[in-house]
Amino acid sequence: MMGSQAFFRQVLQAIGEADCDGLMSDKGAAVLGGLSGRATVGLLQRLAGLVGNRDSLCYLEIGVFQGLSLLSVAIEHPGFACFGIDNFSILDPKGENLGIVRERTRRLNATNAHLINQDYEAALEGLPGHIGERKVAVFFIDGAHDYRSQLMALLLIRPYLSERAVIVVDDANYFDVRQSTRDFLISHPEFKMVFEAYSPGHPANLDQPTRERQEAGWLNGVNVLVLDHENVLPVMLPRVEPLARDLYVNEWLVHRHRYAELAPQALDAAAAMVEGREPDAAGLRAAAEAGKDAFQARHPDRNLHCDGLPDRRFTAWK
Ligand SMILES: C[S@@+](CC[C@H](N)C(=O)[O-])C[C@H]1O[C@@H](n2cnc3c(N)ncnc32)[C@H](O)[C@@H]1O
Repeated sequence: MMGSQAFFRQVLQAIGEADCDGLMSDKGAAVLGGLSGRATVGLLQRLAGLVGNRDSLCYLEIGVFQGLSLLSVAIEHPGFACFGIDNFSILDPKGENLGIVRERTRRLNATNAHLINQDYEAALEGLPGHIGERKVAVFFIDGAHDYRSQLMALLLIRPYLSERAVIVVDDANYFDVRQSTRDFLISHPEFKMVFEAYSPGHPANLDQPTRERQEAGWLNGVNVLVLDHENVLPVMLPRVEPLARDLYVNEWLVHRHRYAELAPQALDAAAAMVEGREPDAAGLRAAAEAGKDAFQARHPDRNLHCDGLPDRRFTAWK
């Protein structure tokens, strides 16, 4: 196998090329569109090109959406197995994304692209049932961006990574994504970050010229990690925000509250009141009514969801 230093140079070169040139080719341009920056997709294509021993390795991503990243990699490397996990739980108001992915796969004849239509956690916990004996050489995380999902993706993939694995974490502009990357890196020192890129804001909050520039680049930011068993590379950590620590305490306060599930809507209503607008009280009441049975069975606060837990229990080992 190639030495680690030569491999890291190849990875850095692939990042540099993706940064300058974006996609490797426009093979899929007439069919594909989606929510990843062109440099990000171009990097995934180039990283898949670095993989030797292709029969025993694969590309894996969380977050297929309409197939841009998965199919862009698959059509660039037809002999290489590419897997994408998505349960189509968000960004799919008309329930059409699964059909779009299937149709695009057919049009591009991407027979090496395999969809795992499942929640990411279930899929990763049963990963050998999907990828067989293969190890994952390139792992792209672009699914749910809450702190826990980001961290779990990194933790659950660990046993399945190849010796020369590269992980691309998308949407690193979100501060809870950077926090999960950092928490993983400091607790798993055999991984190193080799590249990070950010934009001035979420694409939804950017002016058009800036958004177009980001669409050609790394869109909503990336962190790129490699496995560095020999400890060759320097430690490099993404910046985290002191504010995040306070907000994770807020999570605890929200999770135990009777109306925990309504927190985002309740916050919107609070914002409207603070800003002198009319809150959507009817919407909030309707949501409370829809979950009435669960809400009424709870205390106003300090709900522990501990019914049915064992009073005490020892290991079965004797
Ligand atoms: C930003 S999109 C992915 C964009 C895609 N990589 C592309 O290139 O266009 C995020 C996707 O993650 C999926 N997702 C969110 N939560 C998930 C979960 N718990 N399990 C599996 N997929 C999930 C969503 O359904 C959505 O399609």
